[in-house]
Amino acid sequence: GSECAIAPESRFDCGRDKLLSQSECEDRGCCYAPLPDSAGPPWCFYPRVYPGYKMGPLIPTPRGQGATLTRASPSYLPKDISTLRLDDIQETTDCFHLTVSIHPQTCDQENTRYEVHLPGGVPQSKANTQSVLYTTEYQSDPFGFIVRRKSNGRVIMNTTVAPLLFADQYLQLSTTLASSFVSGLGEHYTSLLLDLNWTSLTLWNRDMAPHADANLYGSHPFYIVQEEDGLAHGVFLLNSNAIEVILQPTPALTWVSTGGILDLYIFLGPDPQSVIRQYLQIIGYPMMPPYWSLGFHLCRWGYTTTNTTRKVAQRIIFNRFHQQDVQWNDLDYANKRRVFTFDPWRFGDLPEMVEEFHKRGMKYILILDPGISSTSTPGTYSPFDDGLKRDVFIKNATGQILIGKVWPGPTAFPDFTNPDTRQWWEDCIRDFHSKVPVDGLWIDMNEPASFVQGSVEGCPDSDLENPPYTPSVVGGRLNSGTLCMSARQKMSFHYNLHNLYGLTEAYATHSALLKIRRKRPFVLSRSSFPGIGRFSGVWTGDVRSDWEQLRFSIPAVLQFSLFGVPLVGADTCGFGGNTTEELCVRWMQLGAFYPFMRNHNDKPNAPQEPYVFGQRAQAAMRSALYLRYSLLPFLYTLFHHAHASAETVARPLFMEFPNDPNSRTIDKQFLWGSSLLISPVLEQGAVELAAYLPPATWYSLHNVSHSVIFSRLKGQFLLLPAPLDTINVHVREGHIIPQQEPALTTTASRNNPFFLIVALSAGGWARGDLFWDDGESVDTFEMQNYCYVIFTAGQVSRDYLYFHMESTPLLPSSLYISLPQINVLAVTSLALPMSEVFTVQWVF
Ligand code: GLC
Repeated sequence: GSECAIAPESRFDCGRDKLLSQSECEDRGCCYAPLPDSAGPPWCFYPRVYPGYKMGPLIPTPRGQGATLTRASPSYLPKDISTLRLDDIQETTDCFHLTVSIHPQTCDQENTRYEVHLPGGVPQSKANTQSVLYTTEYQSDPFGFIVRRKSNGRVIMNTTVAPLLFADQYLQLSTTLASSFVSGLGEHYTSLLLDLNWTSLTLWNRDMAPHADANLYGSHPFYIVQEEDGLAHGVFLLNSNAIEVILQPTPALTWVSTGGILDLYIFLGPDPQSVIRQYLQIIGYPMMPPYWSLGFHLCRWGYTTTNTTRKVAQRIIFNRFHQQDVQWNDLDYANKRRVFTFDPWRFGDLPEMVEEFHKRGMKYILILDPGISSTSTPGTYSPFDDGLKRDVFIKNATGQILIGKVWPGPTAFPDFTNPDTRQWWEDCIRDFHSKVPVDGLWIDMNEPASFVQGSVEGCPDSDLENPPYTPSVVGGRLNSGTLCMSARQKMSFHYNLHNLYGLTEAYATHSALLKIRRKRPFVLSRSSFPGIGRFSGVWTGDVRSDWEQLRFSIPAVLQFSLFGVPLVGADTCGFGGNTTEELCVRWMQLGAFYPFMRNHNDKPNAPQEPYVFGQRAQAAMRSALYLRYSLLPFLYTLFHHAHASAETVARPLFMEFPNDPNSRTIDKQFLWGSSLLISPVLEQGAVELAAYLPPATWYSLHNVSHSVIFSRLKGQFLLLPAPLDTINVHVREGHIIPQQEPALTTTASRNNPFFLIVALSAGGWARGDLFWDDGESVDTFEMQNYCYVIFTAGQVSRDYLYFHMESTPLLPSSLYISLPQINVLAVTSLALPMSEVFTVQWVF
């Protein structure tokens, strides 16, 4: 009947949990209408009105208002839950927060639901009803809600389009989308804008080399929507179970989760940058990285001895070849691949080697996998012996320690949700650090990854291992490539905690390093979940050395920016497979603009350190590194703004130019902050580049004195020259970029003179800033132990402009001691001959 007359693109799948025949579909009370193609719109879909929950009256609560949801007859799902509790929580004026969970009265021991509790976000003032940016309407039967933007009435979310389902292991909520410009929902190998043509994205942390249609290392149930008129909003589902998100061209989206509760946040912006800030107010603002970690990192699997490792750094730093701050070692260092040990033959003098690096002003990092080898002779490997005693490992369903397989063979897995484990982990790191004074830690395989399914003994047959519905995951089962779902952790079953493993390990590692080194921690994690940016950076895993992966590394990096993880990068030149000289040059050029830059390579591959290539390639890589190092004061200042006010570092164009239609879709170029536009070559053989310059005047950074100026009120596509030695970088009018003369390491470059590039706007003014501190003390911003400089330039006459430099707060005396050269800084005003772009130099 007319109940079923629904356009194919607006159908909501009534058979997502299983494939249904026509009679099975109709038994559910759904509509059945086959289409020529089995991919795309569902054949079995909900009629316009489909029975669901009925909402009782909204009653004021201490935190907002709440209601009971009941359904008269159970849904088609096993273990359906008929009485739910809805809470509409007043957060702030720009954030709508709603939870749907089991009603407390029906929630017995067996029925307790797992809820994610993130460590407290950033406190904000409470909502004041007058200025709330949204309105909410509830439909009581069947239950649904509509959230609108108050200023223009636009529907931000409308869940009345399909029924809410809530069963023990299956939660489903659908909504329309305000536009088709949707980004987020990582971690996947996608462009910045997601494809709404019946795609499904699974969020389930998995050790899997990036490729299309696969759940990758991290889970971020957050999306941002660009609305039609430059406004934006975001939606966050705080849930750590396996999640599948279905996108359809209506445009609409369906969340399916295999457990937990529906804990939903809507951020009203109204601009894209505010959306991200509001999201980060819930999950936490990112950490301030140590200054040196913005330098160049060099790593590979296959630096098999200390001498090999030494030689690498010697060829670079000792020969003054190019910049490098950090030397890394992969698993090679460990004795039989067991973490917290080092091989006595090949790495016997590891402590001495680290000291040598330190003497050169360099830092040293090595890998740490969470799997703890369980088969050493008792008494010979204390991390395991001690861990057993302190009961830190994840248990299987029958209460024995769960054993999986990772690099060292059979391993046990620390349960980082247990405070005793975190203490044990800290003790292991402390003990190791007392011998090998590492400057940071690289935490890998923390999805967690295991080479056997579930455990060496398999997994029991239960609803946790074989849920009634499993989202499409690599390997087909939730326990593929990881632990049993029925494994027990302190806080809950692994089924509920799996996606949190990397986050909890990053937290434990960050806290341990903080206590042990009493300096700003550096942690790099592969697995991630909302909030990880507070503790760690992330790299994008085992990318292949090819041009397509180079290109997709940009949306990957930009998505992590949206997820509150500004310190992010892909392995330059690619990790898997052999790179080529040209690819490696282009990747080093792009990598010079990843917020985190590391060249890393897989064991069997041809080497890819810059010195192995020909003269031209070397020169190109050298100049890319030179450029990055000269811009580090600017990059560091952007990280300060990320840490202090949740701004993004690597920034999609749409965030800066939300009203420009061309900027909405671009993800082959990106910005640093609001003022540097990076346009890399992403194609083999290309020596020019079709780039887009958004509406502004842009100056080429390479040749500021004979600057190429693009002045446009509307954005412009241009063909830019891009020979092998060039990455195009443009400065936006009205901005001042602080820079510093590069040296071989940041330890040395931090003593060099600063200079500024001042790019005047059409109106003849420019502004910029610099955050400066000792680069490694803890909480310098919070303790006011820093220096913040604001630069302004303005045209005063046809021939002259004025330049002003002001520093706040007043320099604390401790800074005089740690940074003796900084105390000459004073308020400065200069009159300079007029030009559109000029540079100023000074020494702190
Ligand atoms: C994983 C990591 C990779 C590392 C390797 C060996 O594949 O993603 O970066 O080199 O393990 O430790």
